Amino acid sequence: MAPTSATINHSNWTDAQKKAVDTIVDRFTVDGETLKKITDQFVVEMNKGLDQEGATVAMIPSFVSGRCTGDEKGSFLALDLGGTNLRVCQVNLLGGGEHTIRQQKYVVSEELKLGPMRNLCDFIADCVDSFLTENGTSSQDALQLGYTFSFPIYQSSINRGVLKQWTKGFNCSGAVGKDVAVMLQDSFRRKNINVNIAAIVNDTVGTLMAYAYRHPNTTMGVIMGTGFNAAYYENMKDVKKWKGDKDQEMVINMECGAFDIERRVLPMTVYDNKLDRESINVYQQYHEKMVAGMYLGEITRNALLDLIDQQLLFGGRSSKELNKNWSFETAYMSTIEVDETPDLSEAAHILESVLNIPSTTLADRQIVKTICHAVGLRAARIAACHIAGVLRKTGKVGEEAIIAIDGSLYEFYPFFEHNMRQSMNEILGEADSAKVKFDLARDGSGLGAAIIAMMAAKK
Ligand code: BGC
Repeated sequence: MAPTSATINHSNWTDAQKKAVDTIVDRFTVDGETLKKITDQFVVEMNKGLDQEGATVAMIPSFVSGRCTGDEKGSFLALDLGGTNLRVCQVNLLGGGEHTIRQQKYVVSEELKLGPMRNLCDFIADCVDSFLTENGTSSQDALQLGYTFSFPIYQSSINRGVLKQWTKGFNCSGAVGKDVAVMLQDSFRRKNINVNIAAIVNDTVGTLMAYAYRHPNTTMGVIMGTGFNAAYYENMKDVKKWKGDKDQEMVINMECGAFDIERRVLPMTVYDNKLDRESINVYQQYHEKMVAGMYLGEITRNALLDLIDQQLLFGGRSSKELNKNWSFETAYMSTIEVDETPDLSEAAHILESVLNIPSTTLADRQIVKTICHAVGLRAARIAACHIAGVLRKTGKVGEEAIIAIDGSLYEFYPFFEHNMRQSMNEILGEADSAKVKFDLARDGSGLGAAIIAMMAAKK
């Protein structure tokens, strides 16, 4: 059973602390009615996105049509850009839902994330080159590559995509409005690397396909990691803006992290507003900023600073480290939330040794734990709304559904799945919610991109 702040004994808190913490917890509390309202609005926004270009929830046709059977075979390269690291993978599809994968991770420096796009593409090409050399992979023919590019791109074909905007702390110049597949292909060409980008794929689309390789009935692919987004199959006859063949189903990359920039339903707090103001993509990705791993620590930090300023936490003293934006990592929240030691010694270690708060009382540590819990709980509850929204929009409420979910938040954040389930029960009712299965689809996007590259090469 997931803990709540009610399980913490508050008797050692002052009245002022209790009152201030209650106020903050209230701000982060999302009741069942609000969840339903968010879900309803989600359906409205999904429809707008399917009807017209340029809607808030972009609902981007991925050009991935047809289901995979698990019998696909062949050897393909895959790239994964947009999470914490760049991954280069060599995937062998063996058929029968089986595969092998060899992969290497490369750190993308802050300088590359914020510098010219050409430098980032050259870096990626160099990583592919060294991966091929180290693994002794060579071929007379161009190697076919699936490029997982986990940012919003408007696709015009399976291997063409123009960047709409950056998210998740990337902000390379000279990329928005440009075809990012062409830019990377140029780098390969300049460096004489014989690789052909056969497909450009969002990580949600890759996750969906990777999971479908073993479980062909997979309904949605969802990422809950550094960023947040989802993909699902849509009948193209229901997509007004689609000018191509209507007689098919296609995976739609929802880009649902952009939901509600109009601020109609998302219950944003002053702490969310502060985060948004100080982010590099101001007034964008509100939903993602309330749900994804990149942001939860910063929201928590903002709430803790508020308590410090009220002289109700750490004796009113912060530290140089805690004053720094983004210094309170979401991983710290996970550790603090599961700390069941009597004196919350794990929390003490993070606060005193990592963040250099000179000393903390048990009440301080309990308060920090309570705030972490409130922020993490809100994220999981709000994250369930888009899944319920897709099921409602596609008329699948009450049917069996498999939701393939990848990402560090879903995998590691304490009770995240439990809290999403609870939220789903409140939105759909327990009987219909029980038909929806959440499955961890770890590292699916590399495999998914390879499968999609294969499908593209076959066509
Ligand atoms: C991007 C999506 C991506 C998601 C998860 C978001 O910031 O806009 O394209 O799928 O992060 O990585």
